[in-house]
Amino acid sequence: MNTVLLTGANRGIGLELARQCKQRGDRVIAVCRSSSDELDALDVRVETGIDVTDDASVAALAKKLGDTSIDIVINNAGILKRTSLEEGDFASMREQFEINSLGPLRLTRALLPLMKKGGKVAIITSRMGSIEDNTSGGHYGYRMSKAAVNIAGKSLSVDLAPKGIFVAIIHPGMVRTRMTGFSGIEVDESARGVLARIDALGASNTGTFWHQNGEVLPW
Ligand SMILES: NC(=O)c1ccc[n+]([C@@H]2O[C@H](COP(=O)([O-])OP(=O)(O)OC[C@H]3O[C@@H](n4cnc5c(N)ncnc54)[C@H](OP(=O)(O)O)[C@@H]3O)[C@@H](O)[C@H]2O)c1
Repeated sequence: MNTVLLTGANRGIGLELARQCKQRGDRVIAVCRSSSDELDALDVRVETGIDVTDDASVAALAKKLGDTSIDIVINNAGILKRTSLEEGDFASMREQFEINSLGPLRLTRALLPLMKKGGKVAIITSRMGSIEDNTSGGHYGYRMSKAAVNIAGKSLSVDLAPKGIFVAIIHPGMVRTRMTGFSGIEVDESARGVLARIDALGASNTGTFWHQNGEVLPW
């Protein structure tokens, strides 16, 4: 039985990841700013009041976990705010950087002392952070924040390999959540793929940028 801690667990892909982990018998620690009826109904451990942009809040989570051993950390929390060249709002770009890029690094760093050899870290990124795949432009804040977290994930994979901790950088697909106005594939298909990538993660493929469907994506 694995202990899986994930962020953004109150809705969208995070909620479905929590549901599927619970279903398959994992011990789930569902982290969010505030819970939801759907998350409460899952009957898993819920840690509320955790904002991934806030050092004190993330440190408080680590402290509360005490010596709980964590096998898998899934950095899922994220936001998308539309920023075009003409209407690029730097405050919103900065906000996306704080949540999407620094958030996963902050949380992972805080929880590392609770992880052992064989542990896994997943970063839910987006192919919109792929430079090579960018043929449609725009979305400055989101694309830049996801490109930044991709390279943070790669560095984590290098730095943590000697400890036997592996890192996956995963695009969940275009998924029917509030973020996309509920268009795209169903959350259960996305979460199944994300968990399959984490299951297949190990020393030989740490630091890979995957689509949840198993395709390796270009940086
Ligand atoms: N949906 C897609 O098609 C798609 C595609 C590519 C990548 N992704 C990525 O997948 C991840 C999940 O997205 P989603 O589609 O499930 O979106 P979503 O339904 O909008 O959920 C976003 C989650 O992130 C949480 N969050 C936002 N800011 C936070 C903060 N400062 N601290 C802690 N939690 C915060 C939200 O919590 P609150 O309820 O408190 O706001 C919510 O739980 C994101 O990283 C997103 O970039 C999604």
